[in-house]
Amino acid sequence: MKMNKKLFGLFVSAICVFNLSGQGITMQANVKDVLYPVQATMYGVFFEDINFAADGGLYPELIKNRSFEFEHPMMAWTQPKSDRYSLNKNGGFASPVRAKEGGYGQVYLHIDIHDDKGFILENEGYRGMAVEKGKTYRLSAAINNPDNSIRKLVFEVVDQAGKVYAKGELMPKGAWKDYESTITATETIEKGKLVIHFEGNGSLDIDMVSLFPTDTWAGRKNGLRKDLVQLLYDLKPGFLRFPGGCIVEGRTLAQRYQWKKTVGPVAERTTLVNRWNTEFAHKPTPDYFQSFGLGFYEYFQLAEDIGASPLPILSCGMACQFNTAELVPLDELDPYVQDALDLIEFANGDQTTAWGKLRADMGHPEPFHLKMIGIGNEQWGTEYFERYAIFEKAIGEKYPEIKIVSGSGPFAEGEQFEFGWDQLRNSKAYYVDEHYYKPPSWFRENAGRYDDYDRKGPKIFAGEYAAQSVATVSPENKNNWECALSEAAFMTGLERNADVVYMTSYAPLMAHADGWQWTPDLIWFNNLKCYGTANYYVQKMYSTHRGTHVVKIGENGKAVKGQNDIYASMVYDETKDQYFVKVVNTSKTAKSMTLQLDGGTFEETGKGLVMKSPNLSDLNSFEEPELVKPTSFDYTMKKGLLKADLPANSFSIYYIAYKKKRK
Ligand code: AHR
Repeated sequence: MKMNKKLFGLFVSAICVFNLSGQGITMQANVKDVLYPVQATMYGVFFEDINFAADGGLYPELIKNRSFEFEHPMMAWTQPKSDRYSLNKNGGFASPVRAKEGGYGQVYLHIDIHDDKGFILENEGYRGMAVEKGKTYRLSAAINNPDNSIRKLVFEVVDQAGKVYAKGELMPKGAWKDYESTITATETIEKGKLVIHFEGNGSLDIDMVSLFPTDTWAGRKNGLRKDLVQLLYDLKPGFLRFPGGCIVEGRTLAQRYQWKKTVGPVAERTTLVNRWNTEFAHKPTPDYFQSFGLGFYEYFQLAEDIGASPLPILSCGMACQFNTAELVPLDELDPYVQDALDLIEFANGDQTTAWGKLRADMGHPEPFHLKMIGIGNEQWGTEYFERYAIFEKAIGEKYPEIKIVSGSGPFAEGEQFEFGWDQLRNSKAYYVDEHYYKPPSWFRENAGRYDDYDRKGPKIFAGEYAAQSVATVSPENKNNWECALSEAAFMTGLERNADVVYMTSYAPLMAHADGWQWTPDLIWFNNLKCYGTANYYVQKMYSTHRGTHVVKIGENGKAVKGQNDIYASMVYDETKDQYFVKVVNTSKTAKSMTLQLDGGTFEETGKGLVMKSPNLSDLNSFEEPELVKPTSFDYTMKKGLLKADLPANSFSIYYIAYKKKRK
């Protein structure tokens, strides 16, 4: 059959149209279409003491159970040459005893040494004890040596064969006193242990045995682990949520997080079991307790250090509903409400107030500028809303300027979720915290989740989310590129909806490679090293290119949320007078992108950042910590027309600047 010219032309353009829609996307944006501001809080971090994130992680004390207050007072401690609590063959007998009135702390270790052959105690650390060659460590302990019968305590960090990596000594004299000395590691070891040699013959009491790196974040004495805080700092987070998570609720009410017990002198903070210790049969960590060396003062300080707005979450009088679901009767809720009011005073009150004075006495006379507070973590049902209403009234009356974060529970949809939302909508809640731990495909399919949310209703806090490569709470979940890429796609939807989505955070934040309970996590660490996952770099791409305003971008007026596996959003940064176009291609093939930019004259060469890998199972690790991370690229455009190839499985950010006037 002979085809005439016109028919041939039609045929060719049909193929072109087919190819365009099959292979890529054509988008348009007019930079004058500025829609609404992006909140400074848009991308934040969610910290919970899960996976050894606090003790054993961010709080880098090397001695586990330093104050002998774990449920079993000798947990993590051994007397290698004897049976526990029995006479040491070498003459020592160590038994934890309750402090008598006037004693030091709650529990201390009393040791009777009956001859002079040398008594030894060991501490296993947090899955081993690491020291690094050339680095210094502050060794300290509180010791009562009333009759000076013990001459000396020698502390050594050793490997299993007994080789010494760091060594120091304390020479206690007389009644209870704090002793301190600085020691230097002569070599590096990741999984050592501490051995204490007691020299002398007689009785001694010891407490708060501590070995702490001196090189901490901001150089603070017994401060936070520097490399981990650096990763947080680099995210430029808009807020820091703390201390969780379910840890806020506790498995029982008695085990809930009580902020007042985490402030004041560190030695007086009472140790509490960590609710994640035996939560998962597949990952038991019975040695998981909270020393509260990292307490609420330190959390506020951390938030300030990393430039994040503090967001404390408090118990609303409900223990975890996945566990005991214990409830405080409504007419007994006062102490809980008072805790919330007092916390606001602790953070913001001046020094004439009781709690403001405590903050000042702890070293921070200036307020912490608390602007929001969370009531309850992940509660659901009528019980929550009844309690929430009581807090809301009390906080609203005394501190109307404080915004309250409420929650829609652990479910991303369904009956309880809808019920929660109805309640919160009716009560005109300010922020609603939504959680979703879902498969990667869910994230790709839900980039439009917030498109139809009521613009006049509560603001969204997407407070906990993470793509689960296998299933929620599966120990097989991986922080792979498929999950991170799917989150990147979803986040274009968060950004596009910044008029209703005010805060977002990935969860959980951190995990110790040898002590975790929950995966995936944003940051992994061991006793020496840490790395950001692919998910971390996705978060960082967004948070460091947050912009100040959302700009409309679309395909013929429609949001780009999965057409041909492509997702897009665009922001303007008024501080840099620059635009950031974010484009995600979740397809296994490269796609062509055409972007027509109007509303200005733009530089025709520019830079961008891209994360890409054809292999969706790629993941960062201690061995390859930067396998999946952003790299830069150059692009060109002509008269506002940007044509580019989007690599397979990629997340790109294009930096667009106005053309500079040339002289
Ligand atoms: O992020 C881990 C847990 O997931 C949080 O503690 C809880 O809020 C959620 O169920």
